Amino acid sequence: MRNRIYIKDLKDYIGTEIIIAGWLDVRRDQGKMVFFDMRDMTGRVQCVTLPNHVEAIEVAKTIRSEWVLKVTGMVNKRPEKDIKANFLNSDLEIEVLKIEVLNKAETTPFQINENTIGINEDIRMKYKYLDLRTERMQKNIRMRDKIISFFRDYMHKNDFIEIETPMMTKGTPEGSREYVVPSRLWQGNFYVLPQSPQQFKQLCMVAGFEKYFQVARCMRDEDTRGDRQPEFTQLDYEMSFVEQEEILEYTEKMFIQLVNNLYSNKKITKIPFPRITYKEAMEKYGTDKPDLREDKNNPNELAFCWILDFPMFEKTDEGNLQAVHHPFCSIKEEDKDKFMRGEDLFSIRANAYDLVLNGYELSSGSIRIHESDVQKQVFKLLNISEEEQQKKFGHMLEAFTYGAPPHGGFAPGIDRIVMILQNEPNIREVIAFPKTGEGKDLMMGSPSEIAEEQLNDLGIKLNKK
Ligand code: AMO
Repeated sequence: MRNRIYIKDLKDYIGTEIIIAGWLDVRRDQGKMVFFDMRDMTGRVQCVTLPNHVEAIEVAKTIRSEWVLKVTGMVNKRPEKDIKANFLNSDLEIEVLKIEVLNKAETTPFQINENTIGINEDIRMKYKYLDLRTERMQKNIRMRDKIISFFRDYMHKNDFIEIETPMMTKGTPEGSREYVVPSRLWQGNFYVLPQSPQQFKQLCMVAGFEKYFQVARCMRDEDTRGDRQPEFTQLDYEMSFVEQEEILEYTEKMFIQLVNNLYSNKKITKIPFPRITYKEAMEKYGTDKPDLREDKNNPNELAFCWILDFPMFEKTDEGNLQAVHHPFCSIKEEDKDKFMRGEDLFSIRANAYDLVLNGYELSSGSIRIHESDVQKQVFKLLNISEEEQQKKFGHMLEAFTYGAPPHGGFAPGIDRIVMILQNEPNIREVIAFPKTGEGKDLMMGSPSEIAEEQLNDLGIKLNKK
């Protein structure tokens, strides 16, 4: 809209006739005069319709909350007594000259000008576009963007490049069930959605990029919890020719700068971040994600800590051996002999580390294996046959034979970071279009059935349980 002024800029137009556009937030009809607040993406402002502007007041009597309006008016200074420090536009108001209704709105299922945290979540999910209109959700999503853009900048300043890796790929063993996408051209074959870009980022190291990062979407078919979604986002990175210490230092500096730049009201409990081995953490706190805040009720306290030396292997509930982190982690030098001999497996430690914040696992990473024979030994200990190894990971084993540099990386979960920094109780509050606890999108209605014709195209016959 030409000549439209953003509400945050009205202070520069005192005494001028302007046009604003946005949503009607609240309206107070005082008989002779009608007051209403207008809201756009930059803020809110009070508008007054006086009795001498006859046409305008007629319209002002009919307008309702959430209607979309174009308002022409004079920007006037408000009396000193009404001015509130640090409150946008408390020093000015719009004297309305003309109101154009751009669109009407039904009565919304919940109040847009109130915090929706207490509203039934299924209703918020169904009307997500309205929930997102509220001030708290707007702040969360806008801060998420600021955090992501800080990370991108930080990575670029440190010579990382962002590389997009495929969403349609092949299974990777990272502990969760995978979402699959049927292939039409190759009936009976499936793509798998990535649990993380783990293998691709390692292959980017073999490809000689040396410093990769990606704001990466990941998909995991696992039970949803407050800090878990089927779709989530990682700040995924990988570096060549690095030791664990360099990744820890780089990451620690980045998080300190993030807090200083964007959340100066928050205090980091201890710098440098405390370092605890997995064994110590389990013995001392009974968990590998201890909450080390001095005051556990203080949302402005940020207690980061490192958990180091994770075991390489663990037993699943079914009694099978699996990698604690993933099978691409390298083994600690001191434990290498045992590892190559395949002895005392549960005492073998990996060069794997986590970053924990206020009791949440923010990130995991490791120095990787870059030698084919060592990688094969991990697969062998995990009881993956030679044939299976070739079928699933032949590309990795082969890549490692063509001059793979030593490398390692990390992958902080962005949703969890934003959740903690925004003082929110779960990650659904900081994701624009999240899924419910049962993995549903109540607004779009997914997952949903597909047409018989589409199934036929894909060569799929349903066998519903
Ligand atoms: P990992 O599986 O530990 O490591 O994941 C890294 C981080 O991603 C976040 N995260 C999640 N966030 C929301 N919902 C989920 N379902 C979810 N699952 C994980 C967490 C977690 O710490 N490829 C390795 C990283 C590496 O080795 O570099 C990986 O994905 O914050």
